[in-house]
Amino acid sequence: MTDAAPAAAVSPNNPCPFLRALVANGYVGGHVVPLSKIAETITLASGETGAGKIKVWMETFGVAQMANGNPLKSFIFGAVLDELRNGPLDKHGAGSRILDVEAHVHEDEIVRLGTFGKNRPDGAGGMELGLNAKEIETYMAANLERAGDAARFYYPILMKGEWPVLLRIMGKGDGDERYLSVAEVKTLFVERRFPARIVARLPSPPAS
Ligand code: HEM
Repeated sequence: MTDAAPAAAVSPNNPCPFLRALVANGYVGGHVVPLSKIAETITLASGETGAGKIKVWMETFGVAQMANGNPLKSFIFGAVLDELRNGPLDKHGAGSRILDVEAHVHEDEIVRLGTFGKNRPDGAGGMELGLNAKEIETYMAANLERAGDAARFYYPILMKGEWPVLLRIMGKGDGDERYLSVAEVKTLFVERRFPARIVARLPSPPAS
């Protein structure tokens, strides 16, 4: 179990690795955040343009609107990012289990994630461990199976918005060989930091 020192403290009741990094680095606040702010920030991080940009914006807005179980309230005030735990998106241990309920990182679970991947050319002359889309599917199925009876019928739908989206945003390479780097996943969870190429897409956070 590891707890690296992050930039800003993030509530253990925010279980999403992507949002945790956005909060830790000051791109969004850690409590009530307008849905449009979340959608806009994630759209920028995605680097999508044109129709893809609109799609990410709308999907993110929709997910954030559902996340606290009160879509009307969220629409008006925003999503409450430190009250996501036990909300409608919480899969209660049917996910990776990299973060526990106190938001401690379990590195053995990151090692387990890596066992679903392969060593791949990293585009810079080296090799690195990573998972492509197919391997991510296998990984998510294994997570559901591990959860046994605790897995609910709609979890696979929620999961489509998690690891596959992380692959889309943070993946390296193209087509079937596009992969999610296990080292970068570790940095995201443990240090709550994005790779430099994602940071470059985001506006500088306000100085605190
Ligand atoms: C494109 C943006 C996003 C990415 C890439 C992303 C990525 C992820 C990933 C990879 C997980 C799985 C963690 C695991 O299995 O251990 C996760 C979980 C979660 N995400 Fe996100 N997420 C995004 C946006 C959001 C938004 C907008 C919300 C709500 C405001 C949200 C709320 C959650 C919650 C509540 C969980 C916990 C689910 C669980 O307990 O299994 N995420 N996210």
